[in-house]
Amino acid sequence: MSFSKLVFAPLSYTGWGALEQLLPEVGKYAPKKILVVTDPMLAKIGLTDRVTGPLKTGGYEVTVYTEVVPEPPLETGENLVTFTRNNGFDMVIGVGGGSALDLAKLAAVLATHEGKVADYLNLTGSRSVEKKGLPLVLIPTTSGTGSEVTNIAVLSLETTKDVVTHDFLLTDVAIVDPELTVSVPPKVTAATGIDALTHAVEAYISVNANPATDALALQAIRLIARSLRKAVENGEDKQARTDMSHGSFLAGLSFFNAGVAGVHALAYPLGGQFHIAHGDSNAVLLPYVMSYIRRSCETRMADILDALGGNSSFLSDAEASYKCVDELKRIVQDVGIPSTLAGFKIPETALDSLTADGVKQKRILARSPLPLLEADIRKIYQSAFDGVPTEPD
Ligand SMILES: [Fe+2]
Repeated sequence: MSFSKLVFAPLSYTGWGALEQLLPEVGKYAPKKILVVTDPMLAKIGLTDRVTGPLKTGGYEVTVYTEVVPEPPLETGENLVTFTRNNGFDMVIGVGGGSALDLAKLAAVLATHEGKVADYLNLTGSRSVEKKGLPLVLIPTTSGTGSEVTNIAVLSLETTKDVVTHDFLLTDVAIVDPELTVSVPPKVTAATGIDALTHAVEAYISVNANPATDALALQAIRLIARSLRKAVENGEDKQARTDMSHGSFLAGLSFFNAGVAGVHALAYPLGGQFHIAHGDSNAVLLPYVMSYIRRSCETRMADILDALGGNSSFLSDAEASYKCVDELKRIVQDVGIPSTLAGFKIPETALDSLTADGVKQKRILARSPLPLLEADIRKIYQSAFDGVPTEPD
């Protein structure tokens, strides 16, 4: 027998119109100088104004920082932390996709620490986060990363990724308002949505899963499965956007507690070496990793099939798990994401270096129900290149 540590949501507002709670929540901290970290595109299309407008009207001094890039490299984090320390901010608000939110977490927590961001990296750093950072509000504008409820910030290194992680990176307030996701283009809706689906699927089959994370994961899968295609097809679909927003939030809570596994571990090198967006990297690998580990978690995959809208009632667990792989492959294809590595123009000659970097993701691989060693990882990349799901010998 064993027990689980569960860290559930920070103070969160979810659902259409939740952004109304921004001003009252900010007011509780009485900040003098607020730093808003956001994606440049969101500032350009005026979405960031939805946050900064009420703050300025409320009399707060607001600085908007837009040096945010997808899959942010370490240097982007270093620059932002230096900027935050040098300008005496006393609150940080992150508005955007996972990159903006992760960077906002870093800025808030490292503003109260010394040293470089590099010093705090999980794999290679020598220092650890010791105290709480500046008050932090996170407002996602995509339905995918779950960054608003996790204690982790991901940074890109030369060919791979590393993280800064500590419970002091948890936000004080999360505002998850689907209205902010309406203008997200179909491609980004698809990639971030499959990322959220992957969080839920991987949390459900994680060796660290428990009944609480199971409940969150299965409901996240139900919401995403019934709404992702609709949200991609018609971004204005209020119900689909609302489902995706809640699905992503629940998936975030689930994987924060149970962890993600093989799909994310193998996806990181695709982002690191080929700059493929995080959601796309997960999407292209999801069916192949699930096929490879299928026999280690057939019953759980039968549950996932049901949550995806399938029916396992008259099937054996083995039959249902095959169907689950098919269903995952179908949803990735339906939202328009290439279903092979070749579809992302990754050459077969890259599979060795992808494998070499994939093996390094030990922290994540440890949660796979089937241990994935170097030879297994190579086989999975090969199957994703060929477009043919495979299994261990
Ligand atoms: Fe993810």
